[in-house]
Amino acid sequence: MRGDRPATGETPVQDPVTDAAGASHETPDEVWQAEQLAGCDPRALAERFGTPLYVYDLDALARRAARLRAALPDQVDVAYAVKANPSLAVIARLRATGIGADVSSEGELAAALHAGIAPASIVVTGPGKSDALLRRAVELGVRAIAVDSPGEVARIEALTRADRRARLLFRVADPGDSGAGRGHGAGQVFGMDGEDALAAARRAVEAEHLDPLGVHAFTVSAVLDARVLVDHVGRTVAAGRRLAHAAGFPLRLVDVGGGLGIPYGERDTPLDLAVFAAGVARVLRDAAADPALEALRILVEPGRYLAGPAGAYLARVVDVKRLDGRYVTILDGGINHLLAPALPGRAHRMRLVTSDGPADRASVPVVLTGPLCTGLDVLGRADAFPRPAPGDLVAFLDTGAYGFTQSMPWFLSHPGPAEVAASGGRAVLVRPRLDPSDLVERQRIPSW
Ligand SMILES: Cc1ncc(COP(=O)(O)O)c(C=O)c1O
Repeated sequence: MRGDRPATGETPVQDPVTDAAGASHETPDEVWQAEQLAGCDPRALAERFGTPLYVYDLDALARRAARLRAALPDQVDVAYAVKANPSLAVIARLRATGIGADVSSEGELAAALHAGIAPASIVVTGPGKSDALLRRAVELGVRAIAVDSPGEVARIEALTRADRRARLLFRVADPGDSGAGRGHGAGQVFGMDGEDALAAARRAVEAEHLDPLGVHAFTVSAVLDARVLVDHVGRTVAAGRRLAHAAGFPLRLVDVGGGLGIPYGERDTPLDLAVFAAGVARVLRDAAADPALEALRILVEPGRYLAGPAGAYLARVVDVKRLDGRYVTILDGGINHLLAPALPGRAHRMRLVTSDGPADRASVPVVLTGPLCTGLDVLGRADAFPRPAPGDLVAFLDTGAYGFTQSMPWFLSHPGPAEVAASGGRAVLVRPRLDPSDLVERQRIPSW
């Protein structure tokens, strides 16, 4: 298993030293193909939009979504976890493939709605939901709200009335535990233990305007072994059955969260979608033996799997120097735009795009850094990488999910990256570069 915690507490997944020249697992469903980014020349993109920038391949994104949708049984719905990449262009393209959204803040809810996702296809998950988010979710009549605590049930109940009901999922910290009264998963802070989940569900059953639908559990992250995911789905359905039985409501929806992994390393084996889909079908078949589960649906909330391989971060080499036997290559963007190499310590595949034709440079040991004054600002290392020169470009692959959205944009007040989306080889600026002077203009110097 690749990591065993949700993305919010993701563990380092591999040694950050990569063999950047190694054999690749490139598939047609990713942004980098035959030295091109989303069917466009990286140099032309850099020239036209400036650097640094993110490029999202909307066609690859749609193909990934369609492949996942086609593999899964009909009783399974897919909601894109907007936290992975809240770009409207990304969400809108996924909507066109029939996918809903999983949102965890007012901002994400607004993005999903703006991109055209219907409230009936939106689930609201996550901890610490604000009153404003809950009110908006109830008013809109979203598909479900995953409650994280018994207190949240009470807060939602207060917002409902006869013509404004709310549908609830009960997030369980450990699906092996729900309703059984055992302790929750080690280190897990999301969801409820069995006792609280039962109390929350019973309260919802008794409430006049609440509809309990089922459970939500997300305890695995970035998993490449389909059997681990299937096991999680099976345990979550079982937890839902126990809770529904104990609290006295019909189990209609089991939300198994995200966690579908993507290969980051050159030699990682991609998730076997067929094995995952067959396992989920098996869980559903087993459940179908119980007539009470006739209406049961499963919801998956992938973020990384859909958006990750469809995006790349492209930065330009500003300077190169030799230090301790390595070519220290300083780029015009760093962890202010892409934090993952520092936290959680993920090694992204890297590609050099030379400014003067094909990359026939000698291989050298490199460390690729950003422009920030911190030793954390390292985007990648390799023992053998084509020797970079100022003016070259470096593409960091698999950064379409948990890329810019998870970074630290304002440290050192550099401009934020532009975001570009491409389809059919045509690239469009979907969000201009963020300007640090906005931050200056929005501030006041106190006059006392
Ligand atoms: C509730 C919830 N659902 C789905 C996801 C998406 O996970 P992933 O990108 O691993 O599929 C997350 C990630 O943190 C999450 O917190």
